Amino acid sequence: MVEQLSTTSTRRRFLQTGVAVSALGAASIDMRSAVAVEIELTAAEATIPLVGEGHPATDVWAFNDRVPGPVIRARQGERLNVAVTNGLSEPTTVHWHGLRIPVGMDGVPHLSQPPIKPGETFTYDFELKDAGTYWYHPHVNSSEQVGRGLHGALIVEEANPPEVDRELLWVLDDWRLDQEAAIAPFGNMHDASHNGRLGNSATINGAIRDVEPVRAGERVRLRLINVANARTFGLAFRDLDPWVIALDGQPVEPHRLGEQALTLGVGMRADLIIDMVGKPESESVVIDGHYGANFAYELIRFSYDDAPSLPPRFDDRPVALLPNPLAEPDIASAKRHRLVFEGGAMGGMTGAMMGGRRMSMRELAGKGRLWAINGMVPEEIYREPPMLTAARDSSQIIELVNRTAFEHPLHLHGHSFRVIKRDGRDEPYQPFRDTVLLGVDETIEVAFVADNPGKWMFHCHVLEHQGSGMMGVIEVL
Ligand code: C2O
Ligand code: CU
Repeated sequence: MVEQLSTTSTRRRFLQTGVAVSALGAASIDMRSAVAVEIELTAAEATIPLVGEGHPATDVWAFNDRVPGPVIRARQGERLNVAVTNGLSEPTTVHWHGLRIPVGMDGVPHLSQPPIKPGETFTYDFELKDAGTYWYHPHVNSSEQVGRGLHGALIVEEANPPEVDRELLWVLDDWRLDQEAAIAPFGNMHDASHNGRLGNSATINGAIRDVEPVRAGERVRLRLINVANARTFGLAFRDLDPWVIALDGQPVEPHRLGEQALTLGVGMRADLIIDMVGKPESESVVIDGHYGANFAYELIRFSYDDAPSLPPRFDDRPVALLPNPLAEPDIASAKRHRLVFEGGAMGGMTGAMMGGRRMSMRELAGKGRLWAINGMVPEEIYREPPMLTAARDSSQIIELVNRTAFEHPLHLHGHSFRVIKRDGRDEPYQPFRDTVLLGVDETIEVAFVADNPGKWMFHCHVLEHQGSGMMGVIEVL
């Protein structure tokens, strides 16, 4: 497990609301939302043993000297209050990926807030409306800041969590390291125009790991978060048959993974329930084979200790998690939009509009811009007119069309959407998500209620694609 913030640094207190309890009457006070979890995060340079024994330590950028940053844990309905201090030599912000919070707390530079300058502190404060597995990361110079290690898990506990023996958290990352275990330089245009900055060292919770110790017969809840710059993980749990109970923090009808790999594009999360059905002292491998058999590798092994198997004591099918308070989109009345993604290498894009003028691909590339959405390339995202606007509380359907040679994990801020169709077919379980992996040549339809006012980023979470133009703004009026 990742080291957690201890209760000494996680101070719980009652908010000073300025309203006398007697004036409101005790019955109208929601005690849960009166509790705040206060945390301090400092982003700064640090050195960690990423590769491990026999290798040099790695210079990183880290929250509170750890990679991943501290696990933030709170309960659904509580407030989170995080004072972020910038100890870097460049501006930063923190974005709370997947949380439905006011736009001023969303951490997008200029759209939400001015960037936090070196030496300054900005305090984020918001209510945790949804339970689930989320994460946090900067939204400035994202490829480098996230890629050097600035990210952490944010876990919002349900009032009634499912019964398990143990909970595990795997923050999955992928690093490009040289022989000295140092992080390779950023800003490579080949990465930006192809699959992003794929690395050569996959880590779990900030270390290359061989084994995850388990006990035979135990039931584990495994929370997975993909914080890599570019790598999609496609995990095959050999010998085990996990239940999927939540995707991107949002509960989904519990279903078995079966023969399928668990596909986690960048930014995506999954909550699994796994019964450790192997024998004491046996092992069970987890293979990441997303990029095909030639590139498949063993991510980790579950390693059973010698304790006798625990007797079965759980129902086979886990109880579904209670849904979060998300508005249900009305498909019949929804306004329809279409976003076509173009550009990159081998995509055939010849040019696009930027700054009110058509530019050739070569001219765009000269300005570090390689991708377009509906033929438009943003210059400075916060100055652009929104790609689409939505009336508050209206239902929206967006058709996402991939005309590039690469897959793209597309992330919407401030909302969760239902994935309703993929290439014209109904998506199984139609999960609520905040990030959807749009495959090569694929068309996906997502539906949501635009109920959070503000200007929200919608972008590819391959950070090198985002940085080279695959982003836009959706405004909810
Ligand atoms: Cu996880 Cu716009 O980000
Ligand atoms: Cu992309």
